[in-house]
Amino acid sequence: MQQKIEELVSRFKKDIEKAADSQAVENIRIAYLGKKGFVTEILQGMKSLSHEARKEVGKSVNILKADIERQIAQRTEKIKEEQLLKKINESERFDVTLPPNFTQGSYHPITIIQREVEDIFLSMGFTIEDYDEIVDDYHCFEALNIPKHHPARDMQDTYYIENGQLLKTHTSAAQNFIMRKYGAPLRAIFPGRCFRNESTDASHENTFFQMEGIMIDKDISISNLIYFMKTMLTEVFKREVNVRLRPGFFPFVEPGFELDINCLICGGEGCPSCKNSGWLELCPCGMIHPKVLEYGGIDSEEYTGFAFGLGLTRLAMMKYGVKDIRDFNSGNLKALSQFTNI
Ligand code: DAH
Repeated sequence: MQQKIEELVSRFKKDIEKAADSQAVENIRIAYLGKKGFVTEILQGMKSLSHEARKEVGKSVNILKADIERQIAQRTEKIKEEQLLKKINESERFDVTLPPNFTQGSYHPITIIQREVEDIFLSMGFTIEDYDEIVDDYHCFEALNIPKHHPARDMQDTYYIENGQLLKTHTSAAQNFIMRKYGAPLRAIFPGRCFRNESTDASHENTFFQMEGIMIDKDISISNLIYFMKTMLTEVFKREVNVRLRPGFFPFVEPGFELDINCLICGGEGCPSCKNSGWLELCPCGMIHPKVLEYGGIDSEEYTGFAFGLGLTRLAMMKYGVKDIRDFNSGNLKALSQFTNI
């Protein structure tokens, strides 16, 4: 009997090693442990044995059964692992002849519109300038004719830093630096990120993008300002855009304006987007205040200039029909993936 058990053990070992899938393992389990299996057969053969011998053989058969069960469980586990590995290998096999199927990234809509506007101004002889995000009070306010305690400072809720510097509230903060760097005549745009301590909602953000532009030369007038703005906007929106100027107050320009464009949704007839006025407010601008020119080291008797502060974020909202300004900073890939092919 003992010999029979040993034979069974070595046969089982061979069989289980050969089992290639879970069905084969199940067949082996039935063949050995099933009602008519080899182990049951041995148990039935025990009837003819003496009491003592039966006890001995019974013990061995129990050990055998437990061993078979353990090996079956191990083999099942191993097969699962092998199958998983096979699946991974198959999915990762790289076929160089297949056309690529990568998820395509996209530029951020603000980057797209910024580059577009930059190209337009480059073609009109402007240079593109870069400037810090952390600036001092002088550049952000004083050099722009906004002295300390001037009520105009209330228009911009500023983030002050402990060392006395601040996060720039507008791209106008670079005007003085650029004037001093190049002198007159001068044509430059300077895009940048701005910060204001505002509570956010669908049309307000504490972080947004502007693009400042200045043009300084002899005999620059409001008609130059209108011409450049109209040309730029017609290019951006790829259609004829009408502009109008309304008076606006900003201490660093005199006169100062709000530049409106005709509503692109209704074409100027009046609709909910333009509050039935037919016009959309787009870009504050004006003729640079003589004091600001002087602060920048430019002779205001000889030179005049215009400046504008284009809201890039606002422009992107208009161009792409974005209803909530917070979408831009949300990092929401679903929203951004719409710009893949632009
Ligand atoms: N810097 C102003 C702001 O963010 C906008 C502005 C107004 C810029 C008039 C200009 C300008 O260059 O001429 O509120």
